[in-house]
Amino acid sequence: MNSPCREKLFVEHCKGVNGLEKVVLREVRGCSAEIYLYGGQVTSWKNEYGEELLFLSSKATFTHPKPIRGGIPICFPQFANHGSLEKHGFARSRVWSIDPDPPPFSANSSSQACVDLILKHSEEEVKIWPHRYEFRLRITLGPGGDLMLTSRIRNTNTDGKSFAFTFAYHTYFAVSDISEVRVEGLETLDYLDNLKDKERFTEQGDAITFESEVDKVYLSTPTKIAILDHERKRTFVLRKDGLPDAVVWNPWDKKAKAMADFGDDEYKHMLCVEAACVEKPIILKPGEEWRGRQEISAVPSSYCSGQLDPKKVFQSD
Ligand code: BG6
Repeated sequence: MNSPCREKLFVEHCKGVNGLEKVVLREVRGCSAEIYLYGGQVTSWKNEYGEELLFLSSKATFTHPKPIRGGIPICFPQFANHGSLEKHGFARSRVWSIDPDPPPFSANSSSQACVDLILKHSEEEVKIWPHRYEFRLRITLGPGGDLMLTSRIRNTNTDGKSFAFTFAYHTYFAVSDISEVRVEGLETLDYLDNLKDKERFTEQGDAITFESEVDKVYLSTPTKIAILDHERKRTFVLRKDGLPDAVVWNPWDKKAKAMADFGDDEYKHMLCVEAACVEKPIILKPGEEWRGRQEISAVPSSYCSGQLDPKKVFQSD
């Protein structure tokens, strides 16, 4: 095993809910992240004060085949119902493995708190999606508490066939009160409204706020998006690469009640902002590899506000 992710101090392999295998990443300042092999899914991300930054439903089931409600589910090879496969694809309800020998990354991080996971086609799966692939997911907790997810997906078909897929890091951010939350970086952009048959609209207004159900796919978005939680004076900054779109979702009260694995009032305390590739599917020829990266950080809002002036920052990296 030549993975840099094996240092015991920073990476612990243990059992989680229902005896499912999980990996805990820790950094010296006290931040942590938890990842279940079921779904290859981050379920917890805490700052140095032990405060949870991701939403995980109190009703989340950790039972196959239902995906875990909350954290960061991986949507692959299909986002939502943009295709004929099950909603959001099958990766979120498969058991991933630890990648014993991940190929080197060109941009190597200095953090030792990381884990490499791998998912490959199964013979069962080939019946519903007739392709062979290797999906490598590296999850890194940076020394400052930032959480990085890098996906590398390779077409390993031996029949010469290309495949197409859509993708999302379906991140559930924990917020104090959804009516006090604002998203910056998506204003004036075009979006597909999932609540209106994916019809295309243009966002109006200064920033995005929430007072009812939202389910939008923003197109060609900047590489930085900010989620400002006024009550908690915390700003999440999402940086992404290789993922042009961004999904914003909150089910609000009626849909919340209709979901068995979601508490009736929990919609008030979460917001999904998802780095995604939805409008134009990614096409890979045999042997080709795609890479998509998301980095999230949580900073005090006072620190952020000036720096996140969309006119100044969102066009740059
Ligand atoms: C969002 C979609 O990404 O995920 C919504 O835009 C969907 O349409 C939501 O309802 C949750 O999906 P699921 O399958 O986890 O209930």
